[in-house]
Amino acid sequence: MKTKFTQKAIFYFFVLISIPAFTQNKIGRELILIDKDWRFSFGHLHDTKKDFGHAEGYFSYLTKTGFGDGPAAKDFDDRAWRKLDLPHDWAVEQPFSESASFSHGFKAAGKNFPEKSIGWYRKKITIPNEDLGKIISLKFDGVFRNSKVFFNGFYLGTEQSGYNGFEYDVTAYVNYGGENTIVVRADASMEEGWFYEGAGIYRHVYLQKTNPVRVVSNGTYVTSELKNNDASVTADVTIENKGNYKGSIEISQTIFNKENKQITAFSESIAAPEFYKTITHSSKLYVQNPLLWDIDSPNLYRLVTQIKQHGKIIDSYETPFGIRTIEFNAENGFFLNGKPLKLKGTNNHQDHAGIGTALPNEIQYYRIKKLKEMGSNAYRCSHHPPTPELLKACDELGMLVIDETRLMGINDYHLNDLKRMIERDRNHPSIFCWSVGNEEWNIEGGIVGERITNVMQDFAKSIDPTRPVTVGISSGFKSGISSVVEIMGYNYLGNGDIDAHRNQFKQQSGMGTEEGSTFATRGIYFTDDAKHYQSAYDKKPRPTFYSIEEGWKFYAERPYLAGVFFWTGFDYRGEPTPYGWPSVTSYFGMMDVCGFPKDNVFYLKSWWGKEPVLHLLPHWNWTGMEGKEIDVWAYSNCDEVELFLNKKSLGKKKMEQNGHLEWKVKYTPGTLEAIGYKNGKKIITEIKKTTGKAENVKLSLDKENILKGNVSVISVEVTDKNGLHIPTANDEINFSVKGGKILGVGNGDPTSLESDQFIDDISFSVITNFMEQKSESASVPKEMTNYDESKWTEAFKERDYKKQAPSYIYKGEFELKNNASANVVSFFYKKIGVETVVFVNGKKVEPSSEDPQKYILNTAILKEGKNTIHIAATPLQKVKDWDVMNTDPGIIQVSTPAASWKRKLFNGYAQIIIQKDENAKEVILSASAKDLRAVSLSVK
Ligand code: GAL
Repeated sequence: MKTKFTQKAIFYFFVLISIPAFTQNKIGRELILIDKDWRFSFGHLHDTKKDFGHAEGYFSYLTKTGFGDGPAAKDFDDRAWRKLDLPHDWAVEQPFSESASFSHGFKAAGKNFPEKSIGWYRKKITIPNEDLGKIISLKFDGVFRNSKVFFNGFYLGTEQSGYNGFEYDVTAYVNYGGENTIVVRADASMEEGWFYEGAGIYRHVYLQKTNPVRVVSNGTYVTSELKNNDASVTADVTIENKGNYKGSIEISQTIFNKENKQITAFSESIAAPEFYKTITHSSKLYVQNPLLWDIDSPNLYRLVTQIKQHGKIIDSYETPFGIRTIEFNAENGFFLNGKPLKLKGTNNHQDHAGIGTALPNEIQYYRIKKLKEMGSNAYRCSHHPPTPELLKACDELGMLVIDETRLMGINDYHLNDLKRMIERDRNHPSIFCWSVGNEEWNIEGGIVGERITNVMQDFAKSIDPTRPVTVGISSGFKSGISSVVEIMGYNYLGNGDIDAHRNQFKQQSGMGTEEGSTFATRGIYFTDDAKHYQSAYDKKPRPTFYSIEEGWKFYAERPYLAGVFFWTGFDYRGEPTPYGWPSVTSYFGMMDVCGFPKDNVFYLKSWWGKEPVLHLLPHWNWTGMEGKEIDVWAYSNCDEVELFLNKKSLGKKKMEQNGHLEWKVKYTPGTLEAIGYKNGKKIITEIKKTTGKAENVKLSLDKENILKGNVSVISVEVTDKNGLHIPTANDEINFSVKGGKILGVGNGDPTSLESDQFIDDISFSVITNFMEQKSESASVPKEMTNYDESKWTEAFKERDYKKQAPSYIYKGEFELKNNASANVVSFFYKKIGVETVVFVNGKKVEPSSEDPQKYILNTAILKEGKNTIHIAATPLQKVKDWDVMNTDPGIIQVSTPAASWKRKLFNGYAQIIIQKDENAKEVILSASAKDLRAVSLSVK
């Protein structure tokens, strides 16, 4: 039987378009990536003083427009703040703490850490006079979370979700021909998920400039029919008019193939929409003999939508797209382009070793490639919409995707998020299914769940009728959501009787949206609860959960099930089940957080992939275990495998479909060798050798990945004198880099509390007890003098600006937690006078050459604890009575240099992610370790 969706899909074959390219600079439209050169500082969750006085004003930014105060104000002095580039995740920079969140991997950020839960970002941009008349907007791909954005002090809005993209029109507030200030306040005190979510602006930000008559963001949507191998494409485009133009416009839609050859075009004149109105225009185009988008050949086309006014192009909007058909069949599973395809999927969260959620685009490709290498063809975005670059990677590399919204419900909060996800993503050929929820335990088994699903499902269809809808369901597969959802999403065999459900709901297609949840630590073969290490032999993890092999066999044997998504492809931060502190990452992954494979990868690769596989576990370094029995397993898709220890055969065994082989082997050091046979012929060999002691550090570049961009993934290991990888090595490796920077380090150890990043610490010391004395001299003293201590009064308190003294002496104090000689201590002075001299602890200090209002303070004149600052200055005069005069002398910044980069290997491996400077020819990474030969690697 076919689902409602399938019946439709038989007649409609859909052509899909993906999101606009990464940075567009087309005629009529500019999309400028503005990730570089932001200023960042922590604020405070509830102490407004520590939040730089934000929202303390008599009129707040909600009372009077343009009244953003504290850092939200246009002219706030952020010189002392840290400089950084996006994407940025401040949670990953923090140390670990037992009092931090289990879900978020015990990083010391979030609500229990009010001083690490608010992040302020500021950036200055220049907008030229020529842009007058254009619509200027800011586009954010995602900020975690609850972000408020200000532009030149104007409040633009709040986006609660940490996963939605959002956009603000700033046209009315622009300072043309000059400087403009963008400010973001992110509040990561609350969690949206039960897994690591990062904190801050962890996705890209763009400045967009368009004509007032323009394609709205995510404003293209294309469906088509495929008949006799020709695609008839319907390209809808929504156009808005943010100006006063009245008259006709011409809309043209042109399709290009991947060689950039124009395939077909269509154009038509229509009346422009009225002021602030939109219209949706539909065109039909034909593509003869299209090259279909498939997982093995992800063919993409490009649609260029242009708007012309009086013959001139005023907007150009580009959309890569792919042509393919999808179909769910309740009897026979899933079909891509008319051919049956078992979904071999994984669930994944969005963080990676060393860098948290701030993934450069290159890492999206790295991760999707790793999953494809395992034979996987499908990816479930659990449990929220992903960053656009993940979908771009899936489109380009051929990975099917379930795109999932965050929270179930039928009000604006929920439906609006769902709508934005679908409108943003509905053109990606990789997406084959929308998921409107996951394991909503409160509602899944009852009538409320049924009602909500009915609304969300129909709502999704109203925006995109071309894809079916699923929900991941865990508590029983009988009533509630499971009785109405279009594609039943089974979360775990142990949660109910899947065959019984299917027999009751024969019309309903189904797939395993989650399966597995097994525990394994890479390179560990004996569970050690004291150390929080779980053996990597695939086993049933808990009474109601099943091994990866049991899970795959179940789904593989049932054609009616479209496929399965294992929990998870990669380990992630948080949810360190079955343990807790000090374990900080999950144990569920087929790969660890770096992407180093656990043995399960080879089980799946054997039965999911196409190439011959032969993998042995464990390693063969078991000093002290001589004569003891060790379980040796082989993962392979060969017909037979023969195992040898030191050339002596231990027997040839027949491989069962979707199975594995086991031997009990008494440990003797040497060579364990397996030979795989197909149709009686030797086709593959695998060797595990006992290694000698560690001698060399080895660095290897992930070559697959270096073609794209400046970011590289490098594996770190140690080898013996014969160059053999040592699988038990846990050496600490030190790193240094030239021509670029290190973004993060990791090693896949779920219990590692080592730093992910080594960055300079920036802290502030506020000047307190700020006092003044009048001076009768019109010039400021050149040397420190002794002042009558009884004469100090509170600075600026009684100031009569009409009768100011010729000059003033101010005195204040600041505390230093320590006075380490490596610290760089700077006083960022804010003008409180005209001619100014500054003394610290009685010594005159000079302004720096780069900034006359910055003083770099030599630590020789500073001390731990209380320090004194004197400022002698002739006063600033008011020009107008109502001028508000600065009374804040500025702030002391203490920059403590980071320790040098290092990471221990974990069972033989660590990973380091490096980024080449844009102008450098190469980046050179050096690695050294105690008693080992050091090594350098150059990436061009
Ligand atoms: C599921 C849940 C996942 C993850 C997993 C761990 O119930 O949907 O998000 O928590 O359990 O086993």
